Amino acid sequence: NEQLKTNEKDHLIFGGIDTIELAKKYGTPLYVYDVEKIRQNARAFVNQFNKLGVKAQVAYASKAFSSVAMLQVAKQEGLSLDVVSQGELYTALKADFPVEKIHLHGNNKSIDELRMAIENKIGCIVIDNFHEIKLLEQLLNEHDHQIDVLIRVTPGIEAHTHDYILTGNEDSKFGFDIASGQAEEAFNLIIKSKRMHLKGLHCHIGSQIFETDGFILAVQRLYSLMNEWKIKYQFNPEVLNVGGGFGIRYTSDDQPLPLSHYVTALVEEINTQANKYQMDFPEIWIEPGRAIVGNAGITLYEVGSKKEIPNVRNYISVDGGMTDNIRPALYDAKYDAVIANKVNAPKTYQGSIAGKCCESGDMLIWDLRLPEIEAGDILAMFSTGAYGYSMASHYNRFAKPAVVFIENGIDKLVVKRETYQDVSRYDLSYE
Ligand code: LLP
Repeated sequence: NEQLKTNEKDHLIFGGIDTIELAKKYGTPLYVYDVEKIRQNARAFVNQFNKLGVKAQVAYASKAFSSVAMLQVAKQEGLSLDVVSQGELYTALKADFPVEKIHLHGNNKSIDELRMAIENKIGCIVIDNFHEIKLLEQLLNEHDHQIDVLIRVTPGIEAHTHDYILTGNEDSKFGFDIASGQAEEAFNLIIKSKRMHLKGLHCHIGSQIFETDGFILAVQRLYSLMNEWKIKYQFNPEVLNVGGGFGIRYTSDDQPLPLSHYVTALVEEINTQANKYQMDFPEIWIEPGRAIVGNAGITLYEVGSKKEIPNVRNYISVDGGMTDNIRPALYDAKYDAVIANKVNAPKTYQGSIAGKCCESGDMLIWDLRLPEIEAGDILAMFSTGAYGYSMASHYNRFAKPAVVFIENGIDKLVVKRETYQDVSRYDLSYE
């Protein structure tokens, strides 16, 4: 946190604005995004593809954080969009996202989802299973429509942070298995269809990945499969989509690669493989979510009660928790935070940051070094921009926090804070 900016009051400055003023103006908990950082992250990918002269689509994985304002920024940056549900697609349409750049994912796409995708003429469907092929064929016939598709395969590589696991026959709910021949069976069904145009293959090997090895291996696996299909069926893929998963820094333990490194490694390996098998160099698609928004967002909380258990631990409670960030409880995810109204005060105290849900597991950060802390202090938790708001819940009937965007020193409310009326809006009386 060496680069933390503060003002003369020792308040944390984020996106050029005093975070304490933001907390006062909009209330807490509050998600705040530095839009310039979002744009920088997007451009790190896009510019590197351009620099290498490679045709590519950088599809923002909107599951990381979907809202109209966010998708408008993605649109402005010329990104494509990965949606996985009718709700995400609806949000994209509401943001007036160019439909030809929207890709639909999902391991159980409903007939309504597929119909919505077809009626809105979205660019591509990533086909996941046999049931979907049947539904899609039927709908395309009914609508007299054609659509580009990719086949999602499980290359037998599962990457997590620094490790990847190789399995011959991946045990996953997503995509077609290669080893058993199901991917080839899907290929044959799709290639026969007059309605589906097969652009190429898709795979996604995992999330929060810090090495390029897993991606390189995935590319090699995909090419050895595509080479079989080239020999047998004269297939020459136009597109290779290698998914998302590019890691970010949550704490000082994380040492992510510059985003451009992933692009360079992918382009080099795809070049090697395409040459080896004498195939045309394909268009490369990637689907970063976390790497676009993760480090562009922070969450502001107000500190409330304190429980100091002598010789055991100090619990510091804040006014949010697992309802606005489930990642610590769900994945044991680690975060860093500071007291935003005394950033450089000596850290003479240690406390664990507790959420306010009625659940012992609702802890945000364990054993954090802090200055002397009191009720009313504002805690700023870093790198909460991905999978925070998007995985928020109404547990304990908490209302979801507001989201504020900052750009050019101007703060703007982009998602309103929910009210308790909102939370109980759909309750019907039983009296
Ligand atoms: N593409 C596909 C097909 C995916 O399944 C995912 C994430 C992404 C792209 C984007 O991955 P990213 O670049 O954001 O790592 N909720 C979890 C992560 C689950 C992600 C599932 N799929 C979290 O909070 O860490």
